[in-house]
Amino acid sequence: MTVHADYSLKKLNTFGFDVRAKFFAAPETIETLRELLSGNRYARLPQLILGGGSNMLFCADFDGLVIQPRITGIEKTAETADDVYLRVGAGVVWDDFVAYAVQHHWGGVENLSFIPGQVGASPVQNIGAYGAEAKDSIRQVECLLCATGERKVFTAEECAFGYRDSIFKQAWRGRAIVTHVVFRLAKQPVLRTHYGTIEEELKKFPEVTLQTLREAIIAIRRKKLPDPQELGSAGSFFKNPVVPKKLADELIAKDPQMAVYPVNGDYVKLPAARLIEQAGWKGKRAGAVGVHAQQALVIVHYGGGTGREALALSSLIGQSVYEKFGVQLEPEVNII
Ligand code: EPU
Repeated sequence: MTVHADYSLKKLNTFGFDVRAKFFAAPETIETLRELLSGNRYARLPQLILGGGSNMLFCADFDGLVIQPRITGIEKTAETADDVYLRVGAGVVWDDFVAYAVQHHWGGVENLSFIPGQVGASPVQNIGAYGAEAKDSIRQVECLLCATGERKVFTAEECAFGYRDSIFKQAWRGRAIVTHVVFRLAKQPVLRTHYGTIEEELKKFPEVTLQTLREAIIAIRRKKLPDPQELGSAGSFFKNPVVPKKLADELIAKDPQMAVYPVNGDYVKLPAARLIEQAGWKGKRAGAVGVHAQQALVIVHYGGGTGREALALSSLIGQSVYEKFGVQLEPEVNII
């Protein structure tokens, strides 16, 4: 398998920052990936697993081996009266998988339409949007262990999924590479249309089906989120913060329009975009980077800038939100 030296990652991160990897490889099969992991040559170097690069902020060149698994294929492995089980390669483009599921009238991932990236990243950060999360459909995650190249299968329970979180970001961080994900999809899907403006958007269609729900979500995303082909970004830069209910109640008293999401009796999730907007950042530009004019949670790169500039801007935003609201924002993107 070809391992490239001094490889440009500019087209492999949706921010479009011009950084390089000391080595880069894109294995297309489990065997070539295993070969790469078990060989002596790269084993001692720092390794970084890259999916579609849509959730990465590179602040410097990567002095090690970047691996982008390109294992493809969608295979039906089981079927019951109610469900189908699909085993999907980590290198399949996420939205191609969603389109495939919708075409076959299998429900579960349609609300996650148009999310950039590859299937292999979906369990790592438990991608979510419009009232759905990857964890609702994932049953198993197949991996190779970085240290030995051995195969290990994690059940959904073992993945310890949370909000934009899983065991692959915690105890198994950097130790396992996802090769396949097994999804369970419903043959008689229940459509989830209650989030945000979905119902309003669906009125533009003659009927509500998996396909029109997918189209409505794509339309909403196109309006709010930048197209990485035109404007660099990594989607939401921060997570929506989970804060004690007491603090949330104080903030709601000052801003009754703010929509909050209960997490449990003592904690609620706040819309970070609203806090950032209220702190005056929406649409602000700082050199080559800025805050998106349509969605304040998104930091954008206009071109010619560096990851460090985006990071510096994010610190200023975090500081001002903390000073104004007493809320600590946490990055959602992976900072390298
Ligand atoms: N809002 C503002 N100002 C803005 C944008 C939004 O005040 O500039 C308010 C909205 O009015 C709304 C609330 O903030 O009440 C939430 O906004 P939105 O529905 O757009 O979603 P979000 O919470 O900002 C999350 C995900 C997105 C996902 C959307 C839709 C996170 C970190 N982000 O954003 O995911 O697409 O919900 O479900 O949870 C991503 O992770 O990269 C991502 C784009």
